[in-house]
Parts: sequence; C-alpha cells; structure tokens
Amino acid sequence: TAGEMAAEIGTEAYVVGGFVRDVLLTKSNLDLDLVVESDGIAFAKKLAKRMDGRAKYHRKFKTAVVILPDGQRVDVATARLEYYEYPAALPTVELSSIKMDLYRRDFTINALAVHINPSSFGKLVDFFGSQRDLKDKTIRVLHALSFVEDPTRIMRAIRFEQRFDFKIGGQTLNLIKNALKLNLINKLSGYRLTHEMRIILNEANVLRSIERMNELGVLEAIHPLMELNSARSQVIAELERLMSWYSLLYLEPPLSVWKTYFLAMCMGVSKAKMEQIYDRFSFSPSERREFIHLRDAVFWAAGNIMNIKQEMKPSEIYETLSPVPLEGVLFIMARTKREMIKKYVSQYLTSLRLKTIDVTGEDLKDLGLEPGPLYSEFLNQVKLACLDGKLKGRD
Ligand code: CTP
Repeated sequence: TAGEMAAEIGTEAYVVGGFVRDVLLTKSNLDLDLVVESDGIAFAKKLAKRMDGRAKYHRKFKTAVVILPDGQRVDVATARLEYYEYPAALPTVELSSIKMDLYRRDFTINALAVHINPSSFGKLVDFFGSQRDLKDKTIRVLHALSFVEDPTRIMRAIRFEQRFDFKIGGQTLNLIKNALKLNLINKLSGYRLTHEMRIILNEANVLRSIERMNELGVLEAIHPLMELNSARSQVIAELERLMSWYSLLYLEPPLSVWKTYFLAMCMGVSKAKMEQIYDRFSFSPSERREFIHLRDAVFWAAGNIMNIKQEMKPSEIYETLSPVPLEGVLFIMARTKREMIKKYVSQYLTSLRLKTIDVTGEDLKDLGLEPGPLYSEFLNQVKLACLDGKLKGRD
C-alpha cells in the first residue's frame, strides 16, 4: 500500500535500516522504517487514513509513526537533500535523497534500502557495499566523521558486533580509538549514555560487550571507577548464567536485567563515590534513590547471609531476602562462591517468595481484631510459621 501511494503522489518510498539488515541476516525484526522522498508527515497521514491506522508526528524532525489496527508501528521519515552537510565528501549533485539519507547513517550494515514503489518493488538499494559487509561480518562506518557526529555509535558498534558476532573493521576501529582520544564520550549527555548502556546490558553476550567496552577504553571514559576487573567479570559471567536460568523459570515479576548488570559493573565502589557515577549517567532523583536502596539492601542482606554459620531455616532465608529487590537477590546469588548460599537464594526465588497464606486481613477483622499495624505483623508471623512448616500454607 505504501509503495502504491508513493507512486500516486509521484515520490519514491523505501524500507530502510535495521529491518532490511535483519531480513538479509534472516533474523526477525518488527520495526518497520520507511523513508520517502517527499513530506513524510503528509505521507504518514495518508497512509494512516488508508490503512485505518493512526499517525503521530514530530514536526521538528519531519518524522511520523503510523500505528496500524493490528498494533504494528511503521516509522516514516523524510529524505531531504538540504538536511545533510557533507560537502567535502561527495559531490552533492550526484546524490539522490535516499542516497544522502543512507549516507548519514551509522554503519554500512544499516544503510540498505528496499524500493517499494510498484515499478521496482523489492529492489535492493546498496550504495555503500552493505551486502559485502554483511557477508564479511564487518561493522564499518560510512565516513570518517561518523563517531564525531554521534559518539553513541561507539557503543552501537560494539552492540552490533556482539549481537551478530561480527567484527568492527580496522579503519572503523581506528576511528573509534581516535574518538576516544578526543574524549568524545564526555560530550555525550547522561541521558543518551544511559539509553545506550541499557540497551547493551539488555542484550545477549553482556560480558563480551562489557569486555569490549573495557578493552577499547569506553568504560574508563565513562568513569574511571567503572573499569572492569576480574571480580566484576566473574560476577557478570555468573549473572549471565543465572539470568538465563531465571528467565527459563518464567517467574514473576520479570526483573530489570540491565540494573542487575549495572550493580555488578559498579561492584566495589563506595556509596559516596557512586554519586559521581549517578551524576555521569544523569540519573533522576528517583532512579538514584532506587539504586541507593538496591545497593543498601544488598549490603545488608549479603552481610547477614554471609555470616551464617549453621543451617538457615526457611523463615530466616525469607526474612533476610524479602526486603531486597529481585535484581539485588540475583546479584547476591551471583556474587557468592558458597554453594550453600546459592541454594538458599534459589530456594527463596523459586519457592519461599511465592508461598501464600490463607489468612487475610479480613479474617482478622472477623475475629474482632481492630485494624492497625499489628495486622501486617501478625500476617507476617503466620507466613514465617508456614515457611517453617509449623502451619500449613499454600504453594
Ligand atoms: N541510526 C544511526 N545513528 C544512530 C542511531 C541510529 O545512523 N546513532 C540509524 C541506523 O541506520 C539504524 C536506524 O537509524 O538502522 C534505526 O535506529 P535503531 O532503531 O536504533 O536501530 P536498528 O538498526 O533498527 O537496530 P535494533 O535492531 O537494535 O533496533
């Protein structure tokens, strides 16, 4: 439909970027990005109308998103010649808008387009050797200023390298090293840095990505206290193992994967020094509070559980771990080398935490007890008694 519409309007429309890359790599990708060589917003409105969807737009960036009735999102961008400023690199007259649009992208593997006008529907548009790089499994920038223009691309290069098991090309690697020498990472806002870090930590092969960031000096550039050491590596490796175990159990609630790894990346940093790291990532007051609470809770619970000499009763395990957010519980499990403690934490995660009791506040009310703080204390005692098998509970 979009291609037919483009032909009616007398413009060219293309599917671009990650979608095309992933089709060629036979991986699934649900984000559809269109580029049209005309007003993208007008195009999106028309497309939405024709497909019974909704369009939302960003006038400033001349971009829009169309949400189709089945929930599928289609991003529509405008390819415009005057938007680009690389007079030195290529003779502008020669360039079509789509070529310019692709040229300003991060890597060759993301700079492919598929023409969708009916006249040449499905024709692959490859100006920069993208197919060759996909075949050679190489991450390559399109021009020497790519990282200067957008230093988050340094982290994106590492992310794609690890995700697809590709290699960053030699020239591109040199450009990254130069960009780091020029301290370009310092120029990144905390917001963008956090965004990129979250994405990396939410993908597979976290340890390898972190090692690569460390090797290239990205972590040091973010903050010297974040440099990788062997203790952190070990915990991150163990966390990767635990994360896949935890996700296979389909336990609720899902935990925040990136926060758990972030804890490990900052292992050994004092509470006071952590403020510098929070500052660098521009954490909001609530994010800051959340991490402070998480680290405090881990510190307290790990202190308790590590000091245990004799066997712990289920109620003791529960009392120690229940005040700790899940991310912290996984982190404690990854950090300990003692099998016994790993077993306790696993017991907490897979069973103790999920046990419910039949008694409710309503029951206490029926017994004639006045509502108040004693209620929750009473219910808690009932739960602890159930965990130790003194009362019968429900699994
Ligand atoms: N892009 C870019 N520079 C950036 C971010 C994005 O050039 N710093 C371009 C890339 O061409 C990319 C497209 O914008 O293909 C869309 O960006 P995004 O959705 O972040 O990336 P995808 O390639 O779709 O990757 P993912 O599979 O992670 O969604």
